[in-house]
Amino acid sequence: MDKYIIHGGKPLYGEVEISGAKNAAVAIIPAALMVDGVCRIENLPQISDTETLLTILSHLGAKVRAVARSTVEIDCTNVRYTDAPYDMMRRIRASYYLIGSMLGRFGAAKTTMPGGCNFGVRPIDQHIKGMTSLGAQVDIHGGFITAQAKNGRLKGANIYLDKVSVGATMNIMIAAAMADGVSIIENVAREPHIVDVANFLNSMGADIRGAGTNTIKVRGVRRLHGGTYCLIPDQIEAGTYMAAAAAAGGEVKVRNIIPKHMDCITAKFREMGVDIVEYEDALLVRSSGKLRAVNLKTLPYPGFPTDMQPQISTVLALAQGTSIVTEGVWDNRFKYVNELRKMGAAITVDGRTAVIEGVPRFSGAPVAACDLRAGAAVVIAGLCAAGTTEVEDVHYIERGYEDFVGKLRSLGADIVCITAPDRPHEPAPITATAG
Ligand code: EPU
Repeated sequence: MDKYIIHGGKPLYGEVEISGAKNAAVAIIPAALMVDGVCRIENLPQISDTETLLTILSHLGAKVRAVARSTVEIDCTNVRYTDAPYDMMRRIRASYYLIGSMLGRFGAAKTTMPGGCNFGVRPIDQHIKGMTSLGAQVDIHGGFITAQAKNGRLKGANIYLDKVSVGATMNIMIAAAMADGVSIIENVAREPHIVDVANFLNSMGADIRGAGTNTIKVRGVRRLHGGTYCLIPDQIEAGTYMAAAAAAGGEVKVRNIIPKHMDCITAKFREMGVDIVEYEDALLVRSSGKLRAVNLKTLPYPGFPTDMQPQISTVLALAQGTSIVTEGVWDNRFKYVNELRKMGAAITVDGRTAVIEGVPRFSGAPVAACDLRAGAAVVIAGLCAAGTTEVEDVHYIERGYEDFVGKLRSLGADIVCITAPDRPHEPAPITATAG
């Protein structure tokens, strides 16, 4: 059971290199299952979610080879339809992309229901609607999802999503890539990682147009061939370091990013009084630590991302004045507030809205990471707090942030990861998800 020990109060200085996008990687690895040949994936983040997915592919018969830091080769040529390691699939939410890729490749799929959720109900009805429209019979029974395409192949269809969903958009796009005929998917999500997954599939021979707009057109192909693809940088990892620099003060250059993807985040930090200079592939973030309150509502891209809500709310908890933060995507994404209160934050939550009264400073306390971004939020709080903060359950953080401790240390933060004895009578969590 690892935990982080943080001695707060140090401003951050230096440069931090952003890794590849987690939420693109966790769709691209399952999508590689459809490729007949060797897929070389570059800029793959080294996080536990990608490791788990690569292990699942290996169990299915893929040859997976790490060829350099952040580069893997996946060869699924000889993969046959077989049972997947369900205990592993249950651990991560993104295993649902195997429904799309297995249906596309084999015309059949069996996966577990994605794991229990940390921030409210996380239905998958839009995924199922999409697969059903493509001609699959989908059944959910005993915690498993089984899907079978009529006559062994999916058939292109027109699909209108009732809800803008990142996962459903990608899953349907993946499945449709190898369906017979044309699919038109409307009211889709437009996040940068959706474009990345479409670009990945296209570079392997798919024919997908319109990713990044609200309508995607997929002309199914019979075969996807091998190739090389380099993932985009992680918008949320970059935003998290911006938040850390804004709150702790200092001057941090966030490198290897696409500044355009950061616009919705950069605009809010500027409104709070953070000085941000844009370069071609970097942002220089300068903060005195004295910030103004702002209001915000999370929305699908290009709105302010829900995955940055805990981190920016933590910064706002130290800003001057009262901020109102409304969560527009998830029902229950304020669980971390209880942890921040232990450190002195003055935040009240009513349903999907948090009212944040800025306080001059936090004080260190023992806290826990409730999920991936909640974990990042309490670490940011610890960096700003007087005294020592101990963060438990950091395995959530390690699902989505590559070398979080190492990168923060390189910026001058006083943070270490220690291995503490396991808490008695508590089994390791297997159902909670990141992402
Ligand atoms: N929804 C439905 N039906 C569905 C699917 C979604 O009603 O079939 C609803 C959800 O309940 C939610 C909204 O639609 O209210 C958006 O959900 P979405 O499907 O977009 O979320 P997701 O695909 O399950 C991904 C990311 C999340 C991120 C959301 C929103 C992955 C693995 N996860 O989840 O990432 O919050 O999109 O951008 O890509 C994270 O990285 O910390 C994280 C939680």
